[in-house]
Amino acid sequence: MDKLVIEGGYPLEGVVEISGAKNATLPILCASLLTAQALELSNIPRLQDVATALKLLGQMGVTRTREGDRISIQAAQVDSLEAPYDLVKTMRASILVLGPMLARFGQARVSLPGGCAIGSRPVDQHIKGLEAMGAKIEIEAGYIVAEARRLRGARIVTDMVTVTGTENLMMAATLAEGETILENAAREPEVTDLAQLLVAMGARITGAGTDRIVIEGVEKLHGAAHRVMPDRIETGTFLCAVAATGGAIELRGTRSDTLDAVLEKLREAGLTIECGDTWIRASVAKHNGANRLRAMNVRTSEYPAFPTDMQAQFMALNCIADGTSLITETIFENRFMHVAELNRLGAHIEVEGNTALIHGAQSLSGSSVMATDLRASAGLVIGALVAHGETLIDRIYHLDRGYEEMESKLAAVGARIRRVGADRS
Ligand code: EPU
Repeated sequence: MDKLVIEGGYPLEGVVEISGAKNATLPILCASLLTAQALELSNIPRLQDVATALKLLGQMGVTRTREGDRISIQAAQVDSLEAPYDLVKTMRASILVLGPMLARFGQARVSLPGGCAIGSRPVDQHIKGLEAMGAKIEIEAGYIVAEARRLRGARIVTDMVTVTGTENLMMAATLAEGETILENAAREPEVTDLAQLLVAMGARITGAGTDRIVIEGVEKLHGAAHRVMPDRIETGTFLCAVAATGGAIELRGTRSDTLDAVLEKLREAGLTIECGDTWIRASVAKHNGANRLRAMNVRTSEYPAFPTDMQAQFMALNCIADGTSLITETIFENRFMHVAELNRLGAHIEVEGNTALIHGAQSLSGSSVMATDLRASAGLVIGALVAHGETLIDRIYHLDRGYEEMESKLAAVGARIRRVGADRS
């Protein structure tokens, strides 16, 4: 199992190219199931989760060719309408094949995902929405077994805002008979990016980006070309990295308009930020006793509020900031696994329920730590970049699920970071 070795204390300077968004790519790849024609996709990041999605679609009979950041993907012939447990358990987003399969083929068998490191994460809202559209759904031996002659439009009000739930139901509704209204829909930019692709495929969708999405079903969709939006969480993670270490970086190929809440908090913390439509420049004088970041309180919530996927990275920043801060996690019930690991680096964090109390320290010190999930790993990388001495981060396969070449991008802007193989323990 690969590990990262990071020697902390070096400021970051230079330019980083931001990759395509993982959480836009995954639903977009699944949208290929909605048509027999090809989708020509670009800005596709090289990530473990993308490989898992392509493997799953490949097992169903979907053909795909990849060249650099481009993928041509076509579901002309689909011979298996199943998402097996071994793939769904490694990537929950596999549930995104359910809506498209059911809408186009009238059948689907998708493993229930089960719990994961950050919470129990049920998919009851996906099921409830598809049932409202006329699907017959049974749970058999751990599988969602769904059937529908043709889905019918319906008005669906989800109990909570769910990102992949909104995406699944929106995809299903594109081929349903009549109008579907999704109330309490997720407003995340990745939902809008998916809607843009679906519209290019011939779907009739209005309201994406608001909490009320209206979809008028059509008989058929066709092929289309689409460039996946930039990854706002990768962008935010690099901004936290420079905030922690000091220095100046420019992020290119990003979209500053998807990061309002994150940019506001970083400015509050003391980062100087300049933005264009596709770039962000951020700088901070190298920290010393007199020039530390300011601690900031954070409460995660649905877009456009502060994203849960940036919570661990901000926790790492607060660990070395001036003052005491509160971070409240409202989306997932168990997303504080990085706390114990950050404390191993010398942080002072206490957790009470869904709130963490962080007492900013003057410095952190290198140690051996363990990544527990994707964004927790990013928080540990940031902690390690600022800690004195060497930190060894184990289980970085979590990081590889969602960050494209994070260590080479960081090394290129001056971080002392390298990947080592299993033999170094
Ligand atoms: N929920 C239910 N029932 C459902 C669906 C959701 O109870 O049927 C609950 C969840 O358990 C959670 C809350 O509703 O407490 C919100 O979950 P949501 O469905 O929005 O999360 P998701 O769609 O499974 C996506 C991202 C996550 C991101 C969340 C929240 C993808 C592939 N994943 O997950 O990304 O944290 O939205 O913004 O889009 C990551 O990239 O590291 C990651 C975890």
